[in-house]
Amino acid sequence: DWNMPDYVNEAIEKVRAQVGNEEVILGLSGGVDSSVVAALLHRAIGDQLTCVFVDNGLLRLNEAEQVMQTFARNLGVKVIHVDATEQFMGHLKGVSDPEAKRKIIGREFVEVFQTEAKKLPNAKWLAQGTIYPDVIESAGSKTGKAHTIKSHHNVGGLPETLKLKLLEPLRELFKDEVRELGIALGLPHDMVYRHPFPGPGLGVRILGEVKKEFADLLRRADAIFIDELRAADWYDKTSQAFAVFLPVKSVGVMGDGRTYEYVVALRAVETQDFMTAHWAELPHSLLGKVSNRIINEVRGINRVVYDISGKPPATIEWE
Ligand code: XMP
Repeated sequence: DWNMPDYVNEAIEKVRAQVGNEEVILGLSGGVDSSVVAALLHRAIGDQLTCVFVDNGLLRLNEAEQVMQTFARNLGVKVIHVDATEQFMGHLKGVSDPEAKRKIIGREFVEVFQTEAKKLPNAKWLAQGTIYPDVIESAGSKTGKAHTIKSHHNVGGLPETLKLKLLEPLRELFKDEVRELGIALGLPHDMVYRHPFPGPGLGVRILGEVKKEFADLLRRADAIFIDELRAADWYDKTSQAFAVFLPVKSVGVMGDGRTYEYVVALRAVETQDFMTAHWAELPHSLLGKVSNRIINEVRGINRVVYDISGKPPATIEWE
């Protein structure tokens, strides 16, 4: 394209040369990497690309709508939107161990994705948003959580089971280059500069057993926090910020009545590499405003606390 920087045209040509006229499937999550892959592949091969967007019921407020708006309606990308909320919630019922929850969410994702992929028998390629730091990370010997992160991210085993070739057009790029590419391809700034969101989503931000009712409360509290961070110009100064649902009730007063409702914790951190992090020193007035709005607008939550733990010893997520 005449209006694209050279490196974008090179990326487009490379995809065309690799894929030819074959069809490609991509798991679109709404995160930066898979979004940029979707935009790049759509530009390179148009309707040879089909994206599968799985709503696991653990996404942020309006996230599914935003993904469908940006990709399906605005860009004209073929996106299959699967609402698998009931399936995920069903399998998570009664499970409160954090790693068990992660495993279930990862496993169900693979299950749903495979079912959709089998409906596209002509597909020859599975595209993934692997970026250079992921390549380095999986080359080293990683254990525990880092391994879990990878296996979810890269939907482990899928290419083999589905007999698809792997297409990783961002494999040589660093995060800032991925973002630059996203902007050059016309993706919205807010999407390209969005904070990272874990694969298991709100599943690791609802402590203990996950319930739809808790996810609904948390989504609304989280959206208020993010809105206010953006309004106060603090969003870009933090590396990650979110609300956490604590399944603990405490007493409050409202009007003439006594309330007995749940607690939400706010977490905002500054970090370079997510291996160590400092809690963000948000202005008290901003925290106060967020707290007031959550308590006034989200019935079911009557107390908001701020997490002032560094990593280490705390992790960024609460589970
Ligand atoms: P922690 O909580 O370990 O998080 O300090 C470091 C970074 O990793 C993200 N994270 C995950 N991402 N699957 C993911 O895709 C996971 O299971 C997972 N756990 C943590 C976390 O959001 C932070 O950016």
